[in-house]
Amino acid sequence: MMRDSESKANVLLVDDTPANLLALRGILDSLGQNLVEATSGEEALRRLLHDDFAVILLDVSLPGIDGYEVARLIRGRKRCQRTPIIFVTAYETPSERMIEAYSQGAVDFLIKPLVPAVLRSKVSVFVELFQKSEQLKRQQEQLLSQQREMMRAGHLAVAGQLAASVAHEVRNPLATIKVLVEGALRTKNAAPLSRQELTVMHGEITRLERIVQDYLDFARPPELNRCLGDLREVVDQAAALLQTTALRQGVRLAADYPSQPVWAKVDHDQFRAVLVNLLLNAIEAMPRGGLLQVVLNATPREIELTVIDTGTGIAPDILKRLFTPFVTSKPSGTGLGLCISKRIVESHGGRITAKNRAEGGATVTIALPSGHEAEV
Ligand SMILES: Nc1ncnc2c1ncn2[C@@H]1O[C@H](COP(=O)(O)OP(=O)(O)OP(=O)(O)O)[C@@H](O)[C@H]1O
Ligand SMILES: [Mg+2]
Repeated sequence: MMRDSESKANVLLVDDTPANLLALRGILDSLGQNLVEATSGEEALRRLLHDDFAVILLDVSLPGIDGYEVARLIRGRKRCQRTPIIFVTAYETPSERMIEAYSQGAVDFLIKPLVPAVLRSKVSVFVELFQKSEQLKRQQEQLLSQQREMMRAGHLAVAGQLAASVAHEVRNPLATIKVLVEGALRTKNAAPLSRQELTVMHGEITRLERIVQDYLDFARPPELNRCLGDLREVVDQAAALLQTTALRQGVRLAADYPSQPVWAKVDHDQFRAVLVNLLLNAIEAMPRGGLLQVVLNATPREIELTVIDTGTGIAPDILKRLFTPFVTSKPSGTGLGLCISKRIVESHGGRITAKNRAEGGATVTIALPSGHEAEV
């Protein structure tokens, strides 16, 4: 049962007679643990100050403070509250004294002369228990620190990805603007930029603004400001924002709403942003035109909002990681739109799912608790 010194458990032997200590050591040596001796209650208490012990063998009749009092003092210390104590006595102990001793933390009584095999096996049980719990403690600490390390690495990875992605996204529009401005500066007479060039620049600046906003929303989600409203209006506002883009691309927008208001307690700005992203994704998936439907359904428990398009459908490799940050198939996309949308929907207690339609195109569905429920 030899163990290396690191995993050796401390066993405290308390007896005022050196010969008894020698005898105890003789019996317990073969356990291969670290046997610590004390010849008085005071010394025992001192030994217990800084080290943890698997078990204490405590002689009852000590000079000065007796064994029972020592046990009481040991139990009073936080560090030793659970340390098992085996009392060693020379005489049969009266039962009321034993009961008192148990209440002070004794786990066992042994009467001299000690039977070596019995003592050894009792001590070895406590040593094993101690070592198991120490091992468990170490494993727990290891697990915790691994978890912390993983979280730190995860955060760093996301931060790195974020920085790389921002740099990549911002570089293209900046390059376009730079070329145009440098071209204008190169001509001797301060030639103003043409209307067409200014329009391109304006488009690139708008794109930059959107990229910056997306990253901000991703890195620092704004607080929710929920108020009860008719969801049909929020959808209408988002659709109105994209009407021109849709028309330009030959995409027809169709809305299918109930005739009654669809009450929901949502953050209108954030929800509009979700819808704009879903509608824009759908429009971008229909470069040669198509039909974009927004269907609102309300039951007393749930509101379901579905965006259906007749576009290319979601590429299979993208579909698997659709709501993961930076997943995009677009040269100018940040791949944050759906990830931010999911966070917003979930912060409203809802769910967002997406699938491809058998007849072509994709469907994205948002399910929200109804306005009445959301108020609870
Ligand atoms: N309706 C859709 N049809 C086909 N593919 C889609 C649809 N919606 C999303 N996708 C795919 O999912 C990807 C991720 O969409 P997401 O909105 O998260 O980012 P993005 O549109 O690429 O960039 P942005 O951050 O500018 O929104 C898209 O690049 C596209 O490949
Ligand atoms: Mg998008």
